[in-house]
Amino acid sequence: MVKICCIGAGYVGGPTMAMIALKCPDIEVVVVDISKPRIAAWNSDDLPIYEPGLDEVVKECKDRNLYFSTEVEKHVAEADIVFVSVNTPTKTRGLGAGKAADLTYWESAARMIADVSKSDKIVVEKSTVPVKTAEAIEKILTHNNNKGISFQILSNPEFLAEGTAMADLDKPDRVLIGGRETPAGQKAVAALKAVYAHWVPEDRIITTNLWSAELSKLAANAFLAQRISSINAMSALCESTGAEVNEVAYAVGKDSRIGPKFLNASVGFGGSCFQKDILNLVYICECNGLLEVAHYWKQVISINDYQKSRFIKRVVSSMFNTVSGKKIAVLGFAFKKDTGDTRETPAIDVCHGLLGDKALLSIYDPQVTEEQIKRDLAMNKFDWDHPQHLQPQSPTAFKQVSVVWDAYEACKDAHGICVITEWDEFKKLDYQKIYDNMQKPAFLFDGRNVLNVEEMRKIGFVVYSIGTPLDSWVKDLQVSI
Ligand code: UDX
Ligand code: ADP
Repeated sequence: MVKICCIGAGYVGGPTMAMIALKCPDIEVVVVDISKPRIAAWNSDDLPIYEPGLDEVVKECKDRNLYFSTEVEKHVAEADIVFVSVNTPTKTRGLGAGKAADLTYWESAARMIADVSKSDKIVVEKSTVPVKTAEAIEKILTHNNNKGISFQILSNPEFLAEGTAMADLDKPDRVLIGGRETPAGQKAVAALKAVYAHWVPEDRIITTNLWSAELSKLAANAFLAQRISSINAMSALCESTGAEVNEVAYAVGKDSRIGPKFLNASVGFGGSCFQKDILNLVYICECNGLLEVAHYWKQVISINDYQKSRFIKRVVSSMFNTVSGKKIAVLGFAFKKDTGDTRETPAIDVCHGLLGDKALLSIYDPQVTEEQIKRDLAMNKFDWDHPQHLQPQSPTAFKQVSVVWDAYEACKDAHGICVITEWDEFKKLDYQKIYDNMQKPAFLFDGRNVLNVEEMRKIGFVVYSIGTPLDSWVKDLQVSI
């Protein structure tokens, strides 16, 4: 029986290994992590991450051929294939601070693998890493190996998106495996291919060299983020010209060369990958002297930051240029719907902007806990991607912020509402009831274009929706943005 061990029981490691276990009953899969609470949660009925469809798969496979454990070294030693899916934060100090990936966790995992291994291993890079990381890891493994063990390193980037992870894993657009072009390297590629071939059609399994695989992941995320920044840039122009961004996106997306996906204008993209991967790409370009290319990709992030600050300015300027002492309901805190993940969520920047103007926030998200929200709002930029035990604790009191468990409660007596995450339930709320219980004039700022602007205006709200013609009210009060 082939044994797989995955180091890192996070958003990537957990769902991916659950799917491998489901599709490959002949393979034993053990997911290990240094975080005891995380492993305890995987072993309980209350999984540490919310992902539609994940519970069922874990239930079916756990203790059959899927295990979660903190005995990292033991399971790594026993495995034939070791996936590494640990954190790769952005460096906050030293060379490349604010851009380069901090490979501390990766390096320590590699040293541990070299240390405990007694048999040949295929080591699979699963977390997104800068191009040439595999080569560095290979050096660590071979230079710390005096037992004659063969280590083959592969790059097998994950393309799942949160909220749809299980469907993405079940029917991936492609599986990408990069390896060395040596006979041993190709043998390792074939071994990993055989795992995926249990359920993925062969023509969807792409094999490349190591560096192409590593770069493809950064490139795919950069292209996707670029589409969002492109439509968001258009949304600003729509607001100024009276065009409607959804209509523009629809018309543009009908061109089969462009396609309709990833053209939803929003308050900005978030998530653990887009910004981090583009910063990485920018850093690699700079290191290779490709300053124009670096500058080009940096603009994708600049527009994203602009979009978030534009939203904050719209809120403050519409509300008579101050939100000081005013209650503002924040609906949604996760970086997108159907996940409880808040990494790099635009909600953090929007909340910081409003808190900076002394607003009183009442936040509701169906999947994010009060503890997480307060921890996020207290955290420094880039500090989020460290194993939980290193993260700062939430402060004892956050006088301007309350977290509630119901959208109606969040909106009660509020002066304004900001919709930050496109949860389906926000489309179905009784907005008449919400309006009746708010201060007047009642403001509604839709950062996801999920509400029917005309209907909301009929109820009486002053509405701002990204990329749609402005209310005369909002227009009259705008400062330059
Ligand atoms: C992304 C990639 O899609 C995935 O392939 C990769 O493996 C990891 O990074 P993820 O971050 O989980 O996945 O979610 P995604 O659906 O890509 O959304 C990222 C952000 O962009 C979210 O904040 C989302 O709300 C935003 N978004 C997405 C938009 O603002 N508009 C869109 O049209 C699409
Ligand atoms: P991703 O979204 O890429 O899955 P996460 O932050 O959700 O990232 O998961 C990474 C996991 O890796 C965390 O649970 C963390 O505790 C774990 N981890 C980090 N370093 C190590 C290590 N050396 N050994 C085992 N687990 C580790």
